[in-house]
Amino acid sequence: MIVNFSEACERNKEPILKILRQHLNNGQNVLEIGSGSGQHAVHFATKIPTLSWQPTEISENLQSLQSNLEQYAGSNVKHPVELNVCDELWPDCGFNAVYTANTLHIISELLVEYLFRGVGKILEKEGMLIVYGPFRYQGEYTSESNARFDQWLQKRDPLSAIRSFEYVNKLASDQGLKLVQDILMPANNQMLIWRKTI
Ligand SMILES: C[S@@+](CC[C@H](N)C(=O)[O-])C[C@H]1O[C@@H](n2cnc3c(N)ncnc32)[C@H](O)[C@@H]1O
Repeated sequence: MIVNFSEACERNKEPILKILRQHLNNGQNVLEIGSGSGQHAVHFATKIPTLSWQPTEISENLQSLQSNLEQYAGSNVKHPVELNVCDELWPDCGFNAVYTANTLHIISELLVEYLFRGVGKILEKEGMLIVYGPFRYQGEYTSESNARFDQWLQKRDPLSAIRSFEYVNKLASDQGLKLVQDILMPANNQMLIWRKTI
C-alpha cells in the first residue's frame, strides 16, 4: 500500500510523462526535490528506463517515501536521500536534470530562493530544471480555481502561495537558467523548463 497516496499524482503523471519523454530521453541523471509519496519517481523511471532517478524528501517524510519506493520502484530509482532546500550541502552526483512538482507553492518564498540557488550550484551545464505546478502571470491567476486554491493555501499557511512566473523566472535567470518551454498542463498547471547555460 502506498503511504501518503496522492490522487493528483495519479491524474497528472501521464500528462507530465508525455513532456518528460521529449526532454529526458538521453539517460539523464535526475534529482527530484520533494518526492512526496514517490509515485512520480516510480512512474517516470519505469516508463523511461534509461533514466537514473534520485528521489529526495525532508526528514519527516523520508521514511514513508522510502517504504513506498522499496515496494514499487525499479532498479533505476536510487535509495531516497534527505534534502531540505535550505540545506547548505545538496546531493551532488553529476545531475543533468532536476525535477520538482507541486513544491514552489508549498514552501516559503525564502525557500523558493534557496531552491533555485541550490539547483544553480548542482545542475551541470546544459542540464535542465523542470518544474510542475500552478503559477500566476503578470499578477493574474490562470483560472478562478487557482485563485481559490491560493486563498486556501495562504489561510492554511501564510508563507505558502502560488508563485509569480516572472519572479521564479528571474530567480532562474540569476542562476544562468534560460527558459526553454512553458507548457499549459491539465487542471491549470504549468510545466516550466529551463536549461542551464553557464
Ligand atoms: C504538495 S507536496 C508535492 C509532493 C510530490 N512532488 C507531488 O507532486 O505529489 C510538497 C512536497 O514538498 C516537500 N517539502 C516541503 N518543504 C520542503 C523543503 N524545505 N525542502 C524540500 N522539500 C520540501 C514536502 O515534504 C512535500 O513532499
